[in-house]
Amino acid sequence: MTKPAIIIIGASSSIAKAFFREQHERYPQHLIITISRHSVEDLYTSPEMHHRHIICDNSPSEIARVIDDIAPFIPTTQSITIFNGQLHNANFKPEKRLEDIQSDYLQWLFTVNTITPLLWLKGMGELLNNNSQCVLTCLSARVASIDDNSLGGWYGYRASKAALNMAVKTLSVELTRRAKHCKCVLFHPGTTDTPLSKPFQSNVPEGKLFSPKFVAIQLSNLLTQTVANGQVDYIDWQGKPINW
Ligand SMILES: NC(=O)c1ccc[n+]([C@@H]2O[C@H](COP(=O)([O-])OP(=O)(O)OC[C@H]3O[C@@H](n4cnc5c(N)ncnc54)[C@H](OP(=O)(O)O)[C@@H]3O)[C@@H](O)[C@H]2O)c1
Repeated sequence: MTKPAIIIIGASSSIAKAFFREQHERYPQHLIITISRHSVEDLYTSPEMHHRHIICDNSPSEIARVIDDIAPFIPTTQSITIFNGQLHNANFKPEKRLEDIQSDYLQWLFTVNTITPLLWLKGMGELLNNNSQCVLTCLSARVASIDDNSLGGWYGYRASKAALNMAVKTLSVELTRRAKHCKCVLFHPGTTDTPLSKPFQSNVPEGKLFSPKFVAIQLSNLLTQTVANGQVDYIDWQGKPINW
């Protein structure tokens, strides 16, 4: 029988690369399918690795092409983990106040943080069925918690990740009807040493800036403990629930 696949989307993310290595160590015989806008040469560390990398620009037509290509693996996939997410770029940084809000920045954030993950969930979710036992995880963030927002600022990032959370919650309701043994997870990695957090690391308390490897181990451990109960686990790197 074919081993279940592991699918990693947004595979150029620093956390995704560490997660790939961790998953390969745990499941050396599984096929790991990585998907990214880029080639990720540093992942090809072992010639006998059970690994297939697919380049995709995340447009709806390209996503459909990739889904067609990997469709035979999806119903028996063990986990689908979506890392896509952005906070800043050369032109934009998170808003501190109302005056900083810009339409272009918001559109970029919602595309990367909400629409791209949801298009992948659509394509893959349609192929899951009541025999599937897949954990579908999106990288979320604690700042997406409406309850937890006492500091303000970061309008676009907060809102786009909160929208992702709502979309995944909605998916979990649909999965109870069409793929009842599947589970949705929204994972907050904690502040992790990656390009995304680089400009904001100076305020992080000692010991609270995590390495991608540490976060990848935490996530891999948590994925083995999930229970398909129709609920989404919105959790941090310790597995502690985050209020919506
Ligand atoms: N680092 C932290 O402290 C922290 C904290 C909370 C949450 N997170 C979340 O963790 C996830 C991984 O981030 P990271 O810290 O590992 O950052 P990173 O190394 O900068 O990774 C960026 C990710 O965003 C994707 N991406 C970038 N531009 C994109 C675009 N235009 N369209 C679609 N996808 C795009 C990349 O996918 P490709 O491979 O396709 O380029 C990659 O998966 C993100 O969702 C982030 O919001 C991170």
